Amino acid sequence: MAYTPELRRLIKKVEETRPSRLKRKARGEEFPSLTLGERDERLRAYHPDYQRGSRREIRVGPNKGYAVYHEVADILEAESRVDPDTIDLSKIADETDVLVIGGGGAGTAAGLLAQEYGAKITIANKLRHGDANTMMAEGGIQAAAMVGRDSPFYHYLDTMGGGHFKNVPQLVYRLVAEAPMVIQWLEGLGAMLNKNPDGSFQLVHLGGTSRKRVHFASDITGTEIMRTLRDEARNRADGIKVLEFVPAVELVLNEHGHCAGAILYNLETEEYFIIKAKAVVMATGGSGRLHLGGFMTTNHYGATGDGLVLAYRAGVGLCFLHAAQFHPTGAVFPEQAEGLLITEKFRGAGANLVNIDGEQFVFEREPRDVEVASIIRECTDRGKGVPSTTGKLGVWLDSPMIDIMYGEGTVQRDFVGKYTVLKRYGIDIGKEPMLVYPTLHYQNGGLQYNEECESIIPGLYIAGEVGGGVHGENRLGGNSLMDVLVFGRIAGRNAAIYARERAKEGKLTLEHVRSYHRGLEEEGIETDRVSPMLLPDYSNPAVRERQLTTRYLGTVR
Ligand code: FUM
Repeated sequence: MAYTPELRRLIKKVEETRPSRLKRKARGEEFPSLTLGERDERLRAYHPDYQRGSRREIRVGPNKGYAVYHEVADILEAESRVDPDTIDLSKIADETDVLVIGGGGAGTAAGLLAQEYGAKITIANKLRHGDANTMMAEGGIQAAAMVGRDSPFYHYLDTMGGGHFKNVPQLVYRLVAEAPMVIQWLEGLGAMLNKNPDGSFQLVHLGGTSRKRVHFASDITGTEIMRTLRDEARNRADGIKVLEFVPAVELVLNEHGHCAGAILYNLETEEYFIIKAKAVVMATGGSGRLHLGGFMTTNHYGATGDGLVLAYRAGVGLCFLHAAQFHPTGAVFPEQAEGLLITEKFRGAGANLVNIDGEQFVFEREPRDVEVASIIRECTDRGKGVPSTTGKLGVWLDSPMIDIMYGEGTVQRDFVGKYTVLKRYGIDIGKEPMLVYPTLHYQNGGLQYNEECESIIPGLYIAGEVGGGVHGENRLGGNSLMDVLVFGRIAGRNAAIYARERAKEGKLTLEHVRSYHRGLEEEGIETDRVSPMLLPDYSNPAVRERQLTTRYLGTVR
């Protein structure tokens, strides 16, 4: 749907202030960035993580007493989809060395490395292989270029700073130290990242980067990376089995307390079956489809936090789940595109965020959480939000500035993904700004693991968005694609070595599920909720309202 006459009238104000904003840019004058104290103040006042009542303490399991968003607590305080007493653990449908749960970026990278280390692999996907947040990532992937003014040292400092210096240092060290090599690995597999005529990589800033170190493939970086990994996995006929539409619903342990496989659910036949494995890599990704705080989301349909539930029931602790990542710029118009990621690279390229009066109100490359808080403030306390046709508010992202600064056609060339999608709705983002508002984007925290991707349970490895620690309380743009590759690779390699050298046979058990159920009962938690959720139920009006609603935090009109 193209802009309505009323929105076109409001766009005029953006156009009126554009020449003076462009002039300031040409003089090298940026909108003043906030001081650390100001950032903190703004976060406390406006960021959803700091809203009273958004979280509650979990009443059961290893993190009893830890406050997380209600929607996360809901899936943790729920019963298993299976009754452990009715599952026949002697009926094994298949056996493998390494079972990878989730075939996004982390899971597929894990599968590739495990195979290189001689293991027989099964990658079990909830939906299709590659249906994952990796596929949806746009802006790029961070790695210090090792030339010029950058190095892993600065990448480390930026990442820690973005995470409020709460990140697990060993994980950050691993991320930044392996990143340059991982870019070479990706390129060797055939990933086509943008290059300069001299063959060097094109690099840009995203929020919170002190050096240009974000590698990218136009604005479809995740698609390019996922395509590369998936092709590689599917072409390695030897040793990688891929199953689709079979979400995992419970981990299976053995009598020694080691991870020994999983119960999967066939979405087509509606049957449960067991895959026994010497090691398991948990790579189920994030939880945006839980719509924390009622926010719209950038996430793919399968992002319902399943891995958190499975591993938590088995005894793995959680961390940093009190902090969620909202991306500053999700589409709020047209309604069909609500929540859709509008990459930070638009701001990296210089596009201003402006309010209903066409005024810039924030430096466009603040860390994400600060940018989010500033947009919410603009739409609430300052009353400067732009009303969309649904009643939601947003602010303008002035993408036409990019074409004016760098030449007509730049937006179409450098942001081909978003250009194409919005053009279908009748919006030419080389000429018209986009209406945006924060959208739930990333699960900053997750399962606890160490720099070898080991969890507290022998044989259970953690990789990617389902894990927590590397990003602290706030991830920087471009660090998730690197996270899935660095830690996917480590998890795959270590799981393969474990399967070969340390895995111990033993009688299978679901005692951990029984014990979790007892914990629920002891706490008096009576619920008809079952988890993992597997898919959001948008046919349920209460759930549907969360994706298409006018009742967003601070945007009630
Ligand atoms: O804005 C973006 O392109 C998002 C990147 C990311 O989340 O890493």
